[in-house]
Amino acid sequence: MKVDVLLGLQWGDEGKGKVVDVLTPRYDIVARFQGGPNAGHTLEFEGKKYVLRSIPSGIFQHGQVNIIGNGVVLDPVLFREEAESLCESGVNLKSVLKISKKAHLIMPTHRLLDAATEASKGEGKIGTTGKGIGPTYTDKTSRNGLRVGDTLMPDFQKRYDAAKARHISAMEGLGVNEYPTLANLEQKWFEAIAYLKEYDLIDSEHFINEALKENMKVLCEGAQGTMLDVDFGSYPFVTSSNTICAGACTGLGIAPNKIGRVFGIFKAYCTRVGSGPFPTELFDEDGKQMRDIGHEYGAVTGRERRCGWIDLVALKYAVMINGVTDLIMMKSDVLDDFETIKACTAYEINGELTSDLPFDIQSVDIKPIYTELPGWKTPMSSFTKEEELPEPFTAYVRFLEAYLEVPVSILSVGPDRAQTIVRSNFFK
Ligand code: GDP
Ligand code: IMO
Ligand code: MG
Repeated sequence: MKVDVLLGLQWGDEGKGKVVDVLTPRYDIVARFQGGPNAGHTLEFEGKKYVLRSIPSGIFQHGQVNIIGNGVVLDPVLFREEAESLCESGVNLKSVLKISKKAHLIMPTHRLLDAATEASKGEGKIGTTGKGIGPTYTDKTSRNGLRVGDTLMPDFQKRYDAAKARHISAMEGLGVNEYPTLANLEQKWFEAIAYLKEYDLIDSEHFINEALKENMKVLCEGAQGTMLDVDFGSYPFVTSSNTICAGACTGLGIAPNKIGRVFGIFKAYCTRVGSGPFPTELFDEDGKQMRDIGHEYGAVTGRERRCGWIDLVALKYAVMINGVTDLIMMKSDVLDDFETIKACTAYEINGELTSDLPFDIQSVDIKPIYTELPGWKTPMSSFTKEEELPEPFTAYVRFLEAYLEVPVSILSVGPDRAQTIVRSNFFK
């Protein structure tokens, strides 16, 4: 048995949470493989809305096992908040959630360091979510991190103190010498560590590989998006993990030859939150309309998301890097009222046209070249069948499939679980 991977192809917030929830009944296990509480995955059903940050989006279905993998960075305080609120909503979390002992812990000083690093960059700041993601992954790769399994060791406090001392000296180097909130944050953190230990802390790589041997079906849930990948995204305006398909291998202990279908998810247009290049960004009425109709405000930070037309140059690159087998298009309904739909099919750089994503999209002057298609001018959010879709919309989908050379197998026409059209080619 192989694992399937679902991941974002743009700059995050494509709608991963919604689709993982929709697909979960087809799987036995749902596992997050990277990122941390920088993620905000929104699910809506039965008139209720949930935003998940560290917990996989498979917890609301039929008792599937959900795993927080070794590639994830976990903030015990935010985890506790999220978990307790889910338990209050009636989810029996302790019976369905397992956490890798190899997942790294976000410490209070990681969050302070994230803020201090951003402040030191001034205008060049990344616009991080402020959750301590960068400093925690930095400690992981510099071999200084603390892992979930370390909380069970007798020298845990000593290792915590050593890490904290290093963070404080790093902050001093950035000119930060006072930490008025730290004592309070630490107290909450250690209480949350005690709470975390009430969960099933496992060697998730063994668990998943055993499950595959027993023919169980596994869905890996990505966070962020390909353009935020630390290797292939718009560096340095990226997150600090591998958000791409290969991240599922390292973030869960799955061999590359065990990857099955790769579901690449994108919006019918494009958004980005935080700083960094965005070639198709719109500053006009069209961009405003996308933000208003699409409610494009961050699920975690509430920040306004920057909006623009779909960027097929970047999307084709993302399809290549991930080996996408199935495309999933989200928020199609947001474009229902547009007369004309635009899709960027090439970049003009110094008078030359290219459809290959260049090394650096920050420092070069990119003019997006658009293909225009007629809008469908039909409200689609009540549609549930492929046959109901208006012809200009299916023409847009065919155009995207032809450019990206991968079929679109799921279409989303609203935030609710039910507003999802699974096309016949999904069941191939
Ligand atoms: P994720 O981080 O990839 O899980 O995506 P987010 O939850 O951050 O952002 C997606 C937003 O769009 C959420 O508010 C969803 O409820 C909403 N959403 C998802 N699919 C659709 C859709 O097809 N149409 C509309 N209008 N909203 C959607
Ligand atoms: P989901 O999983 C959108 C962005 C931040 C910032 C950059 C680095 O909901 O799609 P970080 O805190 O990771 O160091 O911030 O990455 N970012 C996201 N943008 N969706 C996300 O997650 C994001 N997670 C991080 O805004 O630009
Ligand atoms: Mg999100």
